[in-house]
Order: sequence, then structure tokens, then C-alpha cells
Amino acid sequence: MQLNQPARVLSGMRPTGRLHLGHYHGVLKNWLTLQHEHQCFFFVADWHALTTQYDDPEQIPQHTREMLIDWLAVGINPHEATLFIQSQVPEHAELHLLLSMITPIGWLERVPTYKDQQQKLQEKDLTTYGFLGYPLLQSADILLYRAGLVPVGEDQVAHVELTREIARRFNHIYGRDDDFAAKAEQAIRKLGKKQAGLYRQYRKAYQEQGDAEALATAQALLNHQQHLSLTERERLLGYLEGGGKLILPEPQPLLTPTARMPGLDGQKMSKSYANTIALDADPDTISQKIRTMPTDPARVRRNDPGDPQQCPVWPFHEIYSDAATCDWVQRGCRSAGIGCVECKQPVIDAMTQELAPIQTRAAEYAAQPELVQNILHEGCQRAREIARETMDDVRHVMALQ
Ligand code: TRP
Ligand code: SF4
Repeated sequence: MQLNQPARVLSGMRPTGRLHLGHYHGVLKNWLTLQHEHQCFFFVADWHALTTQYDDPEQIPQHTREMLIDWLAVGINPHEATLFIQSQVPEHAELHLLLSMITPIGWLERVPTYKDQQQKLQEKDLTTYGFLGYPLLQSADILLYRAGLVPVGEDQVAHVELTREIARRFNHIYGRDDDFAAKAEQAIRKLGKKQAGLYRQYRKAYQEQGDAEALATAQALLNHQQHLSLTERERLLGYLEGGGKLILPEPQPLLTPTARMPGLDGQKMSKSYANTIALDADPDTISQKIRTMPTDPARVRRNDPGDPQQCPVWPFHEIYSDAATCDWVQRGCRSAGIGCVECKQPVIDAMTQELAPIQTRAAEYAAQPELVQNILHEGCQRAREIARETMDDVRHVMALQ
């Protein structure tokens, strides 16, 4: 990552159709902040959808359109961020293929989501080549733009970690700078046979595996050498960590700082739990969904005191209500001074108000499909420019024409 310039940000979402409040508070609000501070690339990962939905692709285009409209409606600004669709930038596929040449199968089998998802989606046959390659496709997405920061949820951190390992391995194999390497090799020979062997072994462990302990051991080894000049020592220290050109920089995951948006039942808000409020929910739906939410199970009757900590409504107050309202809830609930219907009303009002402008903008975009097409077209072109630059370098170092 360059220090003098903010890192490029890249993130993707699989096309799931209309988004819900969990996406808004958990992901999109974070994107909204990032788009002001960084050069951002946000894309619809439609090829990723195919890795699990290969037998049911019909809905993917519509889900893609709906999701893009929701991104725009919440305020993702196509003048600030580049929006595009993965499958319209074929360089993702090319980089995925080339990276697959240097990716040990064991690295992919070890990614935790691989076994997890196979177990979760048992009705699907996920013993496919494409599904095993899912995280490598994600690595290609990230490395293609030489992104420094990748905003993701916790479940995706392992994928960014894999991306770092792939980048390191790629740079190690293809990033050799012959002159620098030749001089370093000369200096290595001065270490004597045994030490030289150790140095090479540690260097390899660090560069290919990211083994930090190996790096520290090798540094210590160099610092104890009497026969090296200062220049040679410096050179060998540098050669440990890189040794050549950095073609694909290592990205960092950026964990979403926003609190996880709870669902209507207190679990994480997610379509698969049927506990969501969609961004296009109308006021009646919002009201009905909040009114039927479970509350503190100890509050059976109106006169029973309750505890907000035991109530799935409380996290909504934490997101939506000001200090005075939160205080009113805390006191009223614990003293049975307020009823649950009363307590829920400010949440209903705040959600309705929050969603109204988003829904107006979504309707505007939905009514102008050409506008959305143009945004995508431009985004795609901008993305391809960067993607092509990276691919020129990648093809070159891999001796392709
Ligand atoms: N795998 C991510 C998810 O399921 C989506 C994704 C695909 C992604 N490519 C990416 C996220 C690149 C960040 C960067 O949520
Ligand atoms: Fe939950 Fe509010 Fe009812 Fe207390 S008063 S149980 S916080 S809904």
C-alpha cells in the first residue's frame, strides 16, 4: 500500500435482488463513507452467484438490476465510485485462470467457507471445480484492481487472507528483478554453505507461506553475520521480503465498523432467516413487522416489568433512537410504565422516515433503465481500463504475448 495516497477500495456483492436493512446498516453505509475518502470499485459478483446457483441462473440478471438500483438509491454515487458487473469485465476470468496455475489445491480446500457452505447447502452438488475456485475468483477480483483495502464481513476475511498469500506467491515467482537478484545471490554465497541454505529456506517459507517467524529468524541470522558488508546485509534483508518487482500488492481486509443489524427475531438479519425488512418495505409492512416482533419473554402482561437487554426491539432503539428516547424505553420497560406497542412506535417512525427517500430514489432509477445502463457502461469501461493495465503486466511476467 502506498502511504502518500489513499488505498484503492474494492468490494463486491453477490446479486441477491432487493436489499434489506441489514445490508444498509451493515455494508452500504460503510461504502457511503468510503466513497468520499477513497477511489472505490463496487461490483456485482454474478459469476460468484453461478458457483452455487449454476442450475438456476435465470434470476441473476434481475437480481443484479435490483441490487444496483438499491446501491444507487441509498446514495452510492457513480461519480465517486465505479460500479460494474463482474461478468462484463472478462479480465476477472483471465486473471482467475492464470492465478489457478500457481494455486495449490490444498490452499483452496483449507478455506473455511469451502466445507461450511458445502454442509449448509447439502441439497446442492457443490463438489464442482468452480465452487472450489470461489475464493480464487475473489482473489482475482481484488488483485485485478490492485486494491489496498477490501471492506468485507467477518466471514470473508479468510478470502482476503488467501488473496494475500496468492499475491505473495505470484510476486515471488514472477517478480524477479534479475540484477538485484544476482547481487543478492552473490551475497548469499558469502554466508557459507550452511547459513546460505538456512537463509534460502526461511526466505521461501516467508515469501510463499507468509511465515512471519521464518522472517524474524532469517533477520536475526543476518544480524549475526560478521563477514557481510553493510550494503550486503541491507541487500539480503530486502531480498528476504521481496527481491523483485511487486506486481500484485497485498490487500488488507477492512472489517465493517457498523454494528451488526439484528433481525426481527434478534438473530443476524438475513434472508435465509426470514427476519428482514426490505429497503422497499412500505409503511404498513414496516409497522406490521415491528408490531409483531417478539419482546422480552418475561413481559407476558402489560403490568409485568421487562428488561430491554432481553428484548430484540432494544437493538433497534440503539440504532434509531436518540438518548432521550432510549432513556424513556429503559425506564418505561423496567417499571412497566410503557407498553410494548408504545415502545415500538418510535422505531416504526424512524425506519419509515429513513426508508422514504431511499424508496423515492429507487423508484426514480427503476423508471430510467437507460440511466442505470449508462452508469454501468461507464463503470465497466473505467474498470476495464485498470484491469487491462494489470493484465498487461501479468501477461508480460508470465511470458504471454
Ligand atoms: N464473496 C463475497 C460475498 O459473498 C462477494 C465478493 C466476490 C467479494 N468478490 C469479492 C467481496 C471481492 C469483496 C471483494 O460476500
Ligand atoms: Fe421490549 Fe420495549 Fe416491550 Fe421493553 S417495552 S419488552 S424494550 S418492546
